Amino acid sequence: MEETRKKILSGIQPTNTPTLGNYLGALSNWVKLQEDYDCTYCIADLHSITVRQEPAQLRKQVYESYALLIAMGVDPQRSVAFVQSHNCQHAELSWVLSCFTQFGELSRMTQFKDKSAKHPENINAGLFTYPVLMAADILLYQADLVPVGIDQKQHLELARNVAIRFNNIYGDVFVVPDAYIPKTTAKIASLQDPTKKMSKSDENPNASISVLDDRDTIIRKFKRAVTDSDSRVVYAPGKDGINNLMSIYGAVTGRTYEETEKEFDGKGYGEFKLAVGEAVADKLAPIQEEYARLSADKKYIEQCMREGAEKAYKSSRRTLQKVYKKVGFAVI
Ligand code: TYM
Repeated sequence: MEETRKKILSGIQPTNTPTLGNYLGALSNWVKLQEDYDCTYCIADLHSITVRQEPAQLRKQVYESYALLIAMGVDPQRSVAFVQSHNCQHAELSWVLSCFTQFGELSRMTQFKDKSAKHPENINAGLFTYPVLMAADILLYQADLVPVGIDQKQHLELARNVAIRFNNIYGDVFVVPDAYIPKTTAKIASLQDPTKKMSKSDENPNASISVLDDRDTIIRKFKRAVTDSDSRVVYAPGKDGINNLMSIYGAVTGRTYEETEKEFDGKGYGEFKLAVGEAVADKLAPIQEEYARLSADKKYIEQCMREGAEKAYKSSRRTLQKVYKKVGFAVI
């Protein structure tokens, strides 16, 4: 009999095209982990509307994000790849879990505080309960591991706490998930302000690399990356800009920091930035080619989405039924 493999769940919001930060912090791991785990990946469209979206644009982005996942190497046959709103059980479990989550815990979420400061005109209840929906995403599939960047760590902690609380009341209903956070790429920084994370929603287009940027744009953005006034390519405290570029270079070439230091010994920042830009462009080129091919085939994408939704629904059905029974609903 085949050994049961551990389970993975993760998600990405379809707001704007994924960045190099999303790719190195999370998506590239999603692809690798398929070797050893049963993986379920979702395009988290329900999460996206906590910030006002233009409907046609959001719909387009859902298709784009889904096709990009496949182009990067998420295999829709081997793993479950689906769109969150295609499985209604996320919203259902989220409601139940919200009754087991405290107002105080949600008030402490740094992402809620940041986003409310950024959109003071729209501090909606969804923005506040967003981490509960994320907990539902994870717990529905009984995930053991959740590959994410460091910015999602606090949300993961909340999911764990809610799972433990629920289990303490009703018995072992949920697997308590662990975060899977990469060592050197957990927080890829903005190219314009290396103390901030690279973000899809940054207003300065030079601050982030989109995975669909063309070669010249990628190289130009790296050439303009903000660094310090030193000129030695060494990984050291206080050199946030260079440290970030070294992490990116290491992730796309497989080089350690020491190997990069040796390679650029005696060379300046200019030469290094060009090399980083070229290496990133080389890494993204095959993904972009595959994306161009896939995105021309909307029928195939929709077929994959439909199959993914069906598999996701089936695999989460048991959990929701169990939860409903445990809390006392009359399951018929
Ligand atoms: P999102 O869409 O903001 O980002 C998707 C993934 O990319 C990671 N990431 C980064 N990693 C390194 N450096 C960066 N600069 C960087 N920026 C983003 C994020 O940590 C994330 O892993 N709430 C989630 C989506 C979500 C989810 C889930 C994740 C919904 N349900 C369930 C895990 C499990 C979000 O907004 O990610």
